[in-house]
Amino acid sequence: MRKPVSRVLVINDEILILREFVKGLNAAARSLDNPLGLVFLGMTTASEALARIESDGDVQAAIVDDKLYSLDGGKSKKLQMTAVELVQRITRLRPEIDVYILIAQEQEDEVVDTLFAEAVDGYFYREERDYRGMYRIVNAEIQERARTPFYDQLKNYVWMAKDSWHTPGHSSGESLRGSPWINDFYEFIGEHIFDVDLSVSVPVLDSLLEPRGVIAEAQGMAAKAFGSRRTFFATNGTSTANKVIFQTLLAPGEKLLLDRHCHKSVHYGVVLSGAHPVYLNSSVNRKYGLYGPAPKQAILEAIEANPDAEALILTSCTYDGLRYDLPPIVEAAHAKGIKVIIDEAWYGFARFHPAFRPTALEAGADYATQSTHKVMSAFSQASMIHVNDPTFNEHIFRENFNMHTSTSPQYAMIASLDVARKQMMMEGYKLLARTLALAAELRDQINSTGVFRVLELDELLPEEVRDDGIRLDPTKVTVDISRCGYTVEDLQRELFTRFNIQVEKSTFNTVTLLLTIGTTRSKVSRLYDALMRIAREGRAARRLVQFPDVPEFTRLRCLPRDAYYCGGEAVPLLDEKDNLNEGLIERVCADQIVPYPPGIPVLVPGQVITRPILDFLVGSLRSQKRLELHGIVYDGYVPCLRVLKAGEEQGLKRLG
Ligand SMILES: Cc1ncc(COP(=O)(O)O)c(C=O)c1O
Repeated sequence: MRKPVSRVLVINDEILILREFVKGLNAAARSLDNPLGLVFLGMTTASEALARIESDGDVQAAIVDDKLYSLDGGKSKKLQMTAVELVQRITRLRPEIDVYILIAQEQEDEVVDTLFAEAVDGYFYREERDYRGMYRIVNAEIQERARTPFYDQLKNYVWMAKDSWHTPGHSSGESLRGSPWINDFYEFIGEHIFDVDLSVSVPVLDSLLEPRGVIAEAQGMAAKAFGSRRTFFATNGTSTANKVIFQTLLAPGEKLLLDRHCHKSVHYGVVLSGAHPVYLNSSVNRKYGLYGPAPKQAILEAIEANPDAEALILTSCTYDGLRYDLPPIVEAAHAKGIKVIIDEAWYGFARFHPAFRPTALEAGADYATQSTHKVMSAFSQASMIHVNDPTFNEHIFRENFNMHTSTSPQYAMIASLDVARKQMMMEGYKLLARTLALAAELRDQINSTGVFRVLELDELLPEEVRDDGIRLDPTKVTVDISRCGYTVEDLQRELFTRFNIQVEKSTFNTVTLLLTIGTTRSKVSRLYDALMRIAREGRAARRLVQFPDVPEFTRLRCLPRDAYYCGGEAVPLLDEKDNLNEGLIERVCADQIVPYPPGIPVLVPGQVITRPILDFLVGSLRSQKRLELHGIVYDGYVPCLRVLKAGEEQGLKRLG
């Protein structure tokens, strides 16, 4: 097993003193228990130290001499930075690492007061030269960060090998192990997945539904790591996390401002909470068939026009990596007392590298939901809900959380959240720096094929959001494939069958590749090799496939929840002559109709159906392209929409 290395910088411009410190601390590290591989390194200037912290992901702590960075600013020697500034710059770069200040005893009050508000983890008296004491403290703090309270307890419990007289029924895999019929499943999946599959009957493992022990501790550590006041582990993905927050913030009939392009869980959340949605018509890149963010102006106008809204939800970054300039939006929403929820399903890692910040929480959002499983080392469905809402109602939140959470959550999933957090704390910066470097290499390599082309921010941005300060997450790489001669389906098949490569998603003219902290250089070169071979086949380029115009969102006749819970009736999309069924125009839809890809609804429950919407749906049904239409009801082979009956419509409160 690979052992960690934890470098600790000691920053002092007096070379002799510095040498003495580094020697003393390293001697202490050698003579004392050192499981995390602490090594102390001397730095004589602030800039050298900052450069090292930036380039070396194994730096886990810094000990800064305050004398260097004299607080009076007057007689600074070679260095130009005060301790406050240096601490600020270190924390801006790497908020997760520990920072200590070396001070003279007689200056203690002054220095401690000045640095109190900064992220300083402790102080040492310079004159004491207590290297073993210092080592113990620095080591203990790094060990504290590297703890995984839930996972540790789970592991201990498994090793205790208690006889199980409780759920789950497989009883640590016993029911599979001895079975001639299903023991292959046990062998394939592995014994520990069964060993750790435990339940609330084991009190030492705490309860996800009322955490007071190791789960509470693990969530507390996640809150610290991700910069939130409170963090909750969700075991049914961000799909559920979004719904829990809606039900916490919104009573039936209360207004929610939402990007129309939000994930379908958000639209389902509207139905469940009974919220009154105000849709922001979002941007679309028609050339490449990509759904963009909502224009800043539209968001600000919606906030202005709906000061009675309770909440605003946006997706940042989007599936394609477009992220909002959030601070002005959050500020405008807060000025009207509107809570801001950011769906960071694709962006949970952002806290751990400055290239991705500010995170939603750093930009002031009240809630952020993250699919830890999508972009970090957690099992599928393992997500986190981060809360910074100053008026957070924990009781209501807890009730809603428990309403959606199984009383038998997967313990391996909870442990994976604990471990994913540890990894990001200890090596997130390093892994993300590597991912960024690989993303840059991959871009160059793809472009060098002369056939495939990576779309950069300029080309990804729809016209309407060009001046909105939107940025691109470079780990999401969208490639124009229109010149390779294959259709997107054929290209994906080719990559899969001939080259063993599965991409993240596609549109008519693009494929999107997702680089994560698990991406390796060899994977990058295999992909490059595959694309180069395809490029060299020299097939004739196709024209860009025109993305069908997505119809405008029309008005809502009633609340989505009211419409959804009506029985309704299924009305065919086509008439007897196979033409568009005019009888559906002006009817009210009872379901969410979502063409997939990309998974953005063209109709939500309560929405009035128009001709352009029907044209779009009928066109999609007839399209040669593989396109699923979620929400369509089939009466035999006849595709239908579920719409409200006249009597049902009359019985409901009209919105417009
Ligand atoms: C923007 C967005 N939000 C939420 C989700 C749902 O996340 P999960 O799969 O964790 O339930 C997705 C999933 O693709 C998504 O793209």
